Amino acid sequence: MLRRLHPTQPASFAFTPANAKWAQAQIAKYPEGRQASAIIPLLWRAQEQEGWLTKPAIEGIADMLGLAYIRALEVATFYFMFQLQPVGALAHIQVCGTTTCMICGAEDLIGVCKDLIAEQAHEISADGNFSWEEVECLGACANAPMVQIGKDFYEDLTADKFREILAAFGRGEIPTPGPQNGRYAAEPLSGLTSLKNYESGRAQYNASAGLATAYGDTIKRIQGDEVPILKPRRTPAPPAAKAAAKPAPVAPPAKTAAKNASAPADTPAQPKKLKAAKKGGADDLKEIKGIGPALEKLLNDLGIFHYDQIAGWSAAEISWVDNNLQGFKGRVSRDGWTQQAKILATAGETEFSKRVAKGKVY
Ligand code: FES
Repeated sequence: MLRRLHPTQPASFAFTPANAKWAQAQIAKYPEGRQASAIIPLLWRAQEQEGWLTKPAIEGIADMLGLAYIRALEVATFYFMFQLQPVGALAHIQVCGTTTCMICGAEDLIGVCKDLIAEQAHEISADGNFSWEEVECLGACANAPMVQIGKDFYEDLTADKFREILAAFGRGEIPTPGPQNGRYAAEPLSGLTSLKNYESGRAQYNASAGLATAYGDTIKRIQGDEVPILKPRRTPAPPAAKAAAKPAPVAPPAKTAAKNASAPADTPAQPKKLKAAKKGGADDLKEIKGIGPALEKLLNDLGIFHYDQIAGWSAAEISWVDNNLQGFKGRVSRDGWTQQAKILATAGETEFSKRVAKGKVY
């Protein structure tokens, strides 16, 4: 594809103060004389801030890195992830059109884009809110067909489901990313055939969808001063002009609306913590598979000392802990801590704890 700068460009570009500070921190990661290595993160942050990569942004970043403009332009025009033309104010839709998605219905999804957004890729919808393009494989082939919207994947789509998702964005909502046909991740649609004991202890969403939900920044422009995690998902009310514009809002199916009304908030909740271990001392949390000395200390710092605390975590609490295990995110769900803790809390043994007792875990 021919990639050219857009004929209409803004007069100037400036990072927000927080993004400028972030950019300087990226540049400082590289040794003297190698600052050019920071070009991709800086271009990407400019795009996250503005929605697309403008000529003033590319040149401004070249100046920051001491590069000739042509060097920065080479990078910006080479990688397709950089949008060289304005995108929809609300969301840019990237439809995977590679083999697996294509044979599973990507053409129907492209048809929806043409119908609801614009006839041509990279054309902005009449209301200015949406744009779309076809992209190469996004690596979610087991959940084909799929689209990327902003930062997140919406998978296992049908044309109708995709229409609903676009309508929800048009109403100012942010639909939960991930599989849209009831699958948890990429397991068989008919249900798990292995690792079945992981099913009951798992979090509400798979790790990717869970984190996307916790971050809540699917289509958010990045200003640089965001608190990175655990903000409740935002559902801003759409401005009147947006609500009236194409894509036409459609009411969510009754089933979905009822589910949303009665569902508990999917915001992660911090589990009750103890100031210190109970009399008799803390349990050896390292008997839970997946918890080593570093994680045990982290849990103790979070006020978690005993098996029965972990055994009683709700899905929202598992999600909170999963998101707060710095460097170990997702371990609670991945390793089924609550199930193991339930056994250990009643003086039972797990296969793993038996190995620990025999000194066979190092
Ligand atoms: S073919 Fe679409 S994600 Fe791989």
